[in-house]
Amino acid sequence: MEIRPQKGAQERFLSCNADICIYGGAAGGGKTFALLLEPLHYINNGKFGAVIFRKNNNQIFAEGGLWDTACNIYPYCGGKAVKNPVSVWRFQSGMKVTSRKQFFYMLSRNRSTCGVKPYVRATCNPDSESWVAEFISWWWDENTGYAIPERSGVLRWFIRRDDILYWADSKQEICKQFDLKTEEEKEEPKSVTFISSTLQDNKILMEKDPSYMANLKALSLVERERLLYGNWKIKPAAGLYFPRNKVNLIEEIPDDVKQWVRAWDFAATEDRKNTESGAAYTAGVLIGKRKNRSYVIADVINRRMNASEVRQTVLNTAKTDKAKYKNVKIRLSQDPGQAGKDQAEQYIKLLSGFSVSVVRESGSKETRAEPFSAQWIGLQGTEKGNVCVLLSDWTESYLSQLESFPEGKYKDMADASSNGFAELTKGNIAIVPPSYFADRDRENGWI
Ligand SMILES: Nc1ncnc2c1ncn2[C@@H]1O[C@H](COP(=O)(O)OP(=O)(O)O)[C@@H](O)[C@H]1O
Ligand SMILES: [Mg+2]
Repeated sequence: MEIRPQKGAQERFLSCNADICIYGGAAGGGKTFALLLEPLHYINNGKFGAVIFRKNNNQIFAEGGLWDTACNIYPYCGGKAVKNPVSVWRFQSGMKVTSRKQFFYMLSRNRSTCGVKPYVRATCNPDSESWVAEFISWWWDENTGYAIPERSGVLRWFIRRDDILYWADSKQEICKQFDLKTEEEKEEPKSVTFISSTLQDNKILMEKDPSYMANLKALSLVERERLLYGNWKIKPAAGLYFPRNKVNLIEEIPDDVKQWVRAWDFAATEDRKNTESGAAYTAGVLIGKRKNRSYVIADVINRRMNASEVRQTVLNTAKTDKAKYKNVKIRLSQDPGQAGKDQAEQYIKLLSGFSVSVVRESGSKETRAEPFSAQWIGLQGTEKGNVCVLLSDWTESYLSQLESFPEGKYKDMADASSNGFAELTKGNIAIVPPSYFADRDRENGWI
């Protein structure tokens, strides 16, 4: 058995001599593997130590993540694992890097007596809002968001003064600019580079798991851009989640619907307080899953109502839905706190005799919209997605709100749709490789 970096980006990462090298971009490019190979350079240096920082233990021990990958590498090099109290191979894991400040703090603590100059290797997925995106902005194209191939692995230098980073193309240049003369002063500038990698660079994985690529292709546009192509610029914006030209407009409700869900999005208590009458928008979306696995939006209610009108409407709709479509699951979101609990209980009582699912939603609206958006947009290169919308008097306002998501002021119909879709697909296998999301750290873009 031979353990070695793969040709190309991974090899370049492992032979990089920058003080700080950031590696990655897309998913599946061999980042975690590369990070674990790095300390093996010094396998015979008893004084050398490597520390791998992750935000929390879950991220270390998630399936297919850091620890699992280490188990596939280190035992072959004589490594022995201790999991408790801290996970140690030749290195110690489990500390946190949660912000830029801590990253730079870590850099300032980075001292060495083992004969190897301290250095930092980091891997990440693109997140246009992370400080990393800005830190490495020289290496990606501001127009497209993609890594600039010629700049991959090119060294630049920076110095940090009063929290501001000053950059230059060479060490001499920066030493001149800041009048750094003594040997110690000249140690201050750090060299940085970024090496981009995508799944295409990981031939081993492509061969081992051909469905990995298909999974990335099935992601919604924003996630696909980030994880398949390593796009550092793209972020959730109006028109990216639910573009109207991707839906199939239909004139009649199809008769091959196997499963129906009516999902309600109640205005939050806060929103209600802010309106004169205490009436805010409530949305109820009827979504069905068809035999051919496409989805249909068959009815949308979206009105300003006060609390008692909402209750009345939910009950009436439950009755008419049942009369029309027989089995319709009703999905409600539970607000946080006691008020949310009480409200949920009231609704369960009110709707006795109907099938009701009350869910405490977690994650951001954007995250929750991802799976439905992926269906809405469909596979790349296809003209239409997987969602049909009935032509009716609500269609225009529905499509225009969804198109404006997540920037538009109102999101109730989009939310109800995402939640209804989640109800329909409950228990289905995730289309995203599980190890990927477990590995993800949205706050600062590290992986
Ligand atoms: N140098 C390598 N040798 C053997 N297998 C590799 C190598 N690099 C990556 N792989 C394979 O690719 C898989 C995915 O790599 P990983 O580092 O987890 O990707 P990423 O962290 O970029 O998503 C690994 O689990 C491993 O099977
Ligand atoms: Mg990884």
